[in-house]
Amino acid sequence: MIILAIETSCDETGVAILEGSKQDDALLFRVLGNALLSQAALHAEYGGVYPTLAKREHEKNLPLMLEQALRDAAPHFPEKKSSGSPQTIFSEKYGYALAHIDAIVVTHGPGLEPALWTGIEFAKKLASEYGKPLIPVNHMEGHMISSLARRDTADETAQKFVLEGVELPVLALLISGGHTEFVLMREWFTYELIGKTLDDAVGEAFDKVARMLDMPYPGGPHISKHAAAAREARKKDSEGVSSAPKLPRPMLHSGTCDFSFSGLKTAALYAIRDRGGVHMLTEDERAEFAREFEDAVTDVLVAKTRQALEQTGAKTFVIGGGVAASTRIREQLGQLLTNEFPEVTYRIPERTITGDNAIMIAEAALTHCLMRHIVLDGSDTNAQQVPPPETIRATGNLSLSRPI
Ligand code: KG4
Ligand code: ZN
Repeated sequence: MIILAIETSCDETGVAILEGSKQDDALLFRVLGNALLSQAALHAEYGGVYPTLAKREHEKNLPLMLEQALRDAAPHFPEKKSSGSPQTIFSEKYGYALAHIDAIVVTHGPGLEPALWTGIEFAKKLASEYGKPLIPVNHMEGHMISSLARRDTADETAQKFVLEGVELPVLALLISGGHTEFVLMREWFTYELIGKTLDDAVGEAFDKVARMLDMPYPGGPHISKHAAAAREARKKDSEGVSSAPKLPRPMLHSGTCDFSFSGLKTAALYAIRDRGGVHMLTEDERAEFAREFEDAVTDVLVAKTRQALEQTGAKTFVIGGGVAASTRIREQLGQLLTNEFPEVTYRIPERTITGDNAIMIAEAALTHCLMRHIVLDGSDTNAQQVPPPETIRATGNLSLSRPI
């Protein structure tokens, strides 16, 4: 089964073409084409994602990303089948590759509405021009399922992922610029929200504190990099006392799996102000501040994960979303599992897929189709659950309902 996936929920424009197959109990995903363009540099001057700009950029970049993904995938298709449709949204040259695709899938939420709509409209047009089914996919489900898969390194020349041996229940900690939540999957494709942020998402806090520290948007990677340098410096100077003020660890002992990061952000703001502003900090002090902030966030995530694992008895723990790229967070959660929950399997996504991309959307759709034996030729009653293109809506809904 070959599908083409489109992701435009925030500021990344992604198109990917994946082939999925089932071998015994394993699902295999082979990336045939993948194109991803980040608009982060354009949004940097606004200090966050500017929705109208995101929409305009998606509109401009979607045909280019489609063309690139089709160009990558084209050599995998043996013959030039006629697609029998006029090619209006990308060049004639690689259009024939679309004839080999079984379905188009698109992120329908959660995300920024104007950005989501651009992808949905584009996908609808493509599906109707080429007579393909259109499947809506939940963005958070994409983060979760793709994080459960691992890269297949057996064949170095191919980009392949394998999903196998996942023990249920799965507890996922999804941490991104828009979300911070624990999702429990007791059975495949049923999701329970176990905890969530009551205010800012963790990635948002990283981005805002980075801005206070005069670091570019998106701030997460910059905070992580400076924090790592500060840790290294302290290792060398074991006598050294931190120059950073101690920041709070909000809701550490609330007894729930919910989070709150706005107090931490405000505490950071006041602490910088108390020092006379960021320009009064030396490079080392700025790095120390980033270290203290990342440590505060990590302490909270570790404590809440302990709580959620105890509460749910999950057998597998997985992290996903852009913030899951943080080395500190990955390592500290790893230590928690090794020391306190050795019976729980820790699945950790490689960094190439923690941020938004279309591969994760394709993997979520393929997992549904392959595990639920959905045949996309119209003969299958399961396939009737694939909604007709005209009914697909953008949804800002946080809940992980069944997308197909
Ligand atoms: O999942 P994602 O790409 O987009 C959303 O759906 O929001 O996540 C983006 C977020 C940004 O807030 C970014 O600062 C954060 O992920 N991020 C990181 C790191 N890399 C990206 N946060 C902490 N450490 C990192 N290394
Ligand atoms: Zn995301």
